[in-house]
Amino acid sequence: MSHLEVVDIRKRFGGLEVLHGVSMRAEMGRVTALIGPNGAGKSTLANIISGYVRADSGRVVFAGHDLTRKRVHQRAALGLGRTFQNLELFHGMSVAENVTLGRYRSARLRWFTGPGRHDAPAVTEALRTLTLADQRDQDVGSLSFGRAKMVEPARVVVAEPSMIVMDEPAAGLTSARKAAFGHWIRGLLSPTTGVVLIEHDMQLIMSVSDYIYVLDHGVLIADGTPDEVRRNDKVREAYLGTGEEA
Ligand SMILES: Nc1ncnc2c1ncn2[C@@H]1O[C@H](COP(=O)(O)OP(=O)(O)O)[C@@H](O)[C@H]1O
Ligand SMILES: [Mg+2]
Repeated sequence: MSHLEVVDIRKRFGGLEVLHGVSMRAEMGRVTALIGPNGAGKSTLANIISGYVRADSGRVVFAGHDLTRKRVHQRAALGLGRTFQNLELFHGMSVAENVTLGRYRSARLRWFTGPGRHDAPAVTEALRTLTLADQRDQDVGSLSFGRAKMVEPARVVVAEPSMIVMDEPAAGLTSARKAAFGHWIRGLLSPTTGVVLIEHDMQLIMSVSDYIYVLDHGVLIADGTPDEVRRNDKVREAYLGTGEEA
């Protein structure tokens, strides 16, 4: 089976237990959302999935491989892609060069080969679908916030990952851009491609997700379809803070 699964993940930072035994599963062909209030542990879980942070215990399994002890570039080589909550762009380089870096799944290979060639059809296609085609030769530092937010997703998809983990890729976008981005995310799906989406905007989550996990203080308090999660009282209390529809 080619799904992604995390099993009973625990993580502590110093005295603070951030994840208390979290298990979730993301299938190909689906958007699996991870939501929850600030500090719930979402980014930490994304870092554990992609290998930037090591869990204290538990397992990460992807496409039949136990990733738990694998390094970031090994996970990437197995088809795991990732965007960051804070933009990780290389200023002084063009949009196309930043996106082209995604072609090199191994960081080491990336530094040896360097950027330069950005004529790969996958790069052109990513720039087009994320409306960056007109900015391809511009320095990333000169982009508006909304366009800069599109560079990382473009960089991730050019590696043709089979599972893409995105940490708040739409945060701060206008609602029109959010809607377009949600549409783009749905377009990534295929029988061999899935998405894990961390996001705050409930409207976006409810419209793009097939399945939702809700994390609160390091504990999964609910999971289900958008309708099930919307109706869940625990979610309303913990996530919306009021017990009422926001
Ligand atoms: N590297 C770190 N060192 C210490 N504490 C951390 C570190 N990363 C995250 N935390 C803490 O872990 C908790 C969960 O953070 P995070 O995973 O970023 O939550 P979320 O992405 O859901 O907002 C927070 O209390 C945060 O301060
Ligand atoms: Mg976060």
